[in-house]
Amino acid sequence: MKKLKTALLCLLAVAGLQAQTKPVYLDNTQPIELRVKDALSRMTLEEKVKLCTAQSKFSSHGVPRLGIPEIWMSDGPHGVRMEIMWDSWDHAGWANDSCTAFPALTCLAASWDPSMSHLFGNAIGEEARYRRKDVLLGPGVNIYRSPLNGRNFEYLGEDPYLASRMVIPYIQGVQENGVSACVKHFALNNQERWRDRIDVQISDRALYEIYLPAFKAAVTEAKVWSIMGSYNKIRGQYACENELTLNKILKGEWKFDGCVITDWGGAHNTKEAALNGLDIEMGTWTNGFTFSQSNAYDSYFLAVPYLKMLRSGEIPVSNVDEKATRILRLIFRTAMNVNKPYGSLASEEHHNVGRTVAEQGIVLLKNTTGLLPIDASKYKTIAVIGENATRKLTEGGGSSELKPKREVSALQALTEKFGADKVQFSLGYGSGAVSYDKVNKSPYDADKLRKEAVELASKSDIVIFVGGLNKNTQQDSEGDDRRSYGLPFGQNELIAELQKVNKNIVLVMLSGNAYEMPWLPKATTLVQGWYGGSEAGHAIANVLSGTVNPSGKLPFTFAAKLNDYGAHSFGAIAFPGDSIREEYKEDILVGYRWFDTKKIKPLFPFGYGLSYTTFEYGKIASDKKEYTADETIKLSFTLKNSGKVDGKEAVQVYASQPKASVVRPAKELKAFKKVFLKAGETQTVELEVKVKDLAFFNEATHNWTVEPGEFVLCNASSSADVKSQVKIQVK
Ligand code: BGC
Repeated sequence: MKKLKTALLCLLAVAGLQAQTKPVYLDNTQPIELRVKDALSRMTLEEKVKLCTAQSKFSSHGVPRLGIPEIWMSDGPHGVRMEIMWDSWDHAGWANDSCTAFPALTCLAASWDPSMSHLFGNAIGEEARYRRKDVLLGPGVNIYRSPLNGRNFEYLGEDPYLASRMVIPYIQGVQENGVSACVKHFALNNQERWRDRIDVQISDRALYEIYLPAFKAAVTEAKVWSIMGSYNKIRGQYACENELTLNKILKGEWKFDGCVITDWGGAHNTKEAALNGLDIEMGTWTNGFTFSQSNAYDSYFLAVPYLKMLRSGEIPVSNVDEKATRILRLIFRTAMNVNKPYGSLASEEHHNVGRTVAEQGIVLLKNTTGLLPIDASKYKTIAVIGENATRKLTEGGGSSELKPKREVSALQALTEKFGADKVQFSLGYGSGAVSYDKVNKSPYDADKLRKEAVELASKSDIVIFVGGLNKNTQQDSEGDDRRSYGLPFGQNELIAELQKVNKNIVLVMLSGNAYEMPWLPKATTLVQGWYGGSEAGHAIANVLSGTVNPSGKLPFTFAAKLNDYGAHSFGAIAFPGDSIREEYKEDILVGYRWFDTKKIKPLFPFGYGLSYTTFEYGKIASDKKEYTADETIKLSFTLKNSGKVDGKEAVQVYASQPKASVVRPAKELKAFKKVFLKAGETQTVELEVKVKDLAFFNEATHNWTVEPGEFVLCNASSSADVKSQVKIQVK
């Protein structure tokens, strides 16, 4: 008994001693800032420098001596990417890294529903957590400037307000899991061609009003923990080493307290990177695992060359202290966060999230003969035609490529839905295999495919054509841009021929970009289906069959022709540049701001989307007639579901200032809400606009200015379909 007592006392004493001596940085009950300070005070200069670079393709150094772990990162915005080799881009071939493929971010943006962003962010965050990732490399919020940009599918559309509202809950959802979102690509990476060097010339106004707001919302509202610098140059300086965007705006004006991570290989100069706000340098190309320790990673700009400059005094030690502080903060928020949940991977729940987001994002563009929803009892034979009905669209595309646990194709889901006895398939057209840097030739005989499809269409009661773009290079893919606005692989010709032999054609287009539609006048039924991920097929089948009433709206304008876009109206120097320099000549008039102001009629405007029901908008009213600059305008109007089925409508509020001292767009989105109404139901919709959000960025004073005078606020079902307006005065 005595022995036991002594042993117990000893144990307690040791435990007490341990509790007393536990370093502050390891004590997770202490505030993070205290822990960071303590950890920093224990580190050597060499250890601090190490934190600033990669140690493998997707991880950066920890401090092994102090038990501070490495940071593990993974792409990307649509799902947690398969494991990649330590030193190369090859897939590692693990058996346990299959994920849920969530829809592409364009589809999420098309839902116009921030609650979808939160569901999405939280689910992908849980997958990242399960896969033991600390940083998820996404979401992307570069503004849709041209439909040729190969990476538009990874972004949230053409409007800074829509992108801002949609990105915030995504980031919050991810970070609730103790996983950092890494919003990218900061900034002005609005094309892939020459992305490694193109030097963007832009006005302050366009920068602040169009291209920065979504990043600002990510930093100041969502409190994102990391941000990825882009490859391009901004006013002569690389974005990953940019005094203006990183030091002045991000860390200065927005008070960002997280880490700036390079895009892979985005650093170019030790001193500029060190002094201009870069924290972690990630990259590519090393010579092999054992060799790389003393070779490639040590040669990174922020590795040994940086250490040498710190030792010589060319760069002050305070510079690395600041970076290490930010990196430690990121580690404590993620890798060393003991309160984070365990996460989960490729669960049924996550697949449901993916399907729901895909359903909410699908946009019905045309339904003039009421072919949709498809009443299968009317048809004996249903032809499904088009490569995208079966093609895996989670493969390829660059860094957002995924290895999903499942990917339900449109053909599979439509067959399940309408019955194998009715549905027949014909490829119709074919593209080549996915490749990152070269365009593979199609292995098919195009004439033969077309003839077979036309023949099937001619003897079928209804045709569901599933086409669009794909994830091949020079389509919707990283590293290069589309070369033309038209649909590829002979689809236009094929659609025209199908239209000759069958009147019941439902066109379902899967893409992350707009495209030309020469066949539109003859088309009765058109659905924009995006890239829907694992559950894409089910979402499409649910919408086509009416199980789900479509409610998505376009997050970018579909122009009739390429030169109608602002970026394409000023010749090559405005897009894609002369390979060295590019001038954003359309300035603040991006997307619908351009089309509206210049009175150019698009094929389908920003914010457009139909439903299987109809909505009646009441007249918009404001709570007052006059406001001061710090007030909020309370708006309301009635919305009635005047059709026969329940449905959702994304209502929009745009503002304009008819008389101003600077150019102001014809209208700008200032509020939106997705409203659910039962058939026949009427609701009063209430929305708010802060007067300060009516400001423009004043280049002379470098400030946001609300010019007193009259403003017009309207409720609208798209940027081109204004229902009513109210005029207010700002004093
Ligand atoms: C892409 C990034 C991506 C990174 C890592 C880069 O080439 O631009 O978006 O996160 O690679 O895969």
